[in-house]
Amino acid sequence: MNSQNAITEQRFVYVGYQGKENPTEQERILHLLDTYSTTEGFVAQYLPKWIDVSPNQKVQGGLRTVQGREALHARLMKKRLRELDGDSDATIPQARKDNEVPFFSSADHSDVEKLKVLSELFGDGEAFLRPVMELADGIKEDLLTAELLRTILDNEMESITWVQEMYRVLSTEQASPR
Ligand SMILES: [Fe+2]
Repeated sequence: MNSQNAITEQRFVYVGYQGKENPTEQERILHLLDTYSTTEGFVAQYLPKWIDVSPNQKVQGGLRTVQGREALHARLMKKRLRELDGDSDATIPQARKDNEVPFFSSADHSDVEKLKVLSELFGDGEAFLRPVMELADGIKEDLLTAELLRTILDNEMESITWVQEMYRVLSTEQASPR
């Protein structure tokens, strides 16, 4: 197997705080809200294109829910970011856009291929989400944001479980067509 395509290490939903040394709780929260809401908004934008090209109604139905959750998360976190007077500086790297948008929008790649990429990206779902959970659990003062993040993570876990289960089902069907 091509080692570039083999995702063996656990990846994470959030790479962690980047900025000042010894950031305050508030600075860490603002960075997370900005970064994470931007990623969620990006995913929410391209998922409809996948839904449009998917030939499978089950995939379309599940993806609608996943897409709705991503859009909701982006909205909720942007709202909180504004309430806290945080800056919206985060952007999606161009390489990521160039890579993901055409892949997920394309009818030339099957649902199974797309689900496989996501399943492997998530890996262990709890581990994937842990950086945000740890940040939420460490919040002492801003209990509103802490609980907002925890409930968003509950949603994310549902989405990850759906993606991995749908991948398992479709890849099994593909291996042994009835
Ligand atoms: Fe998400």
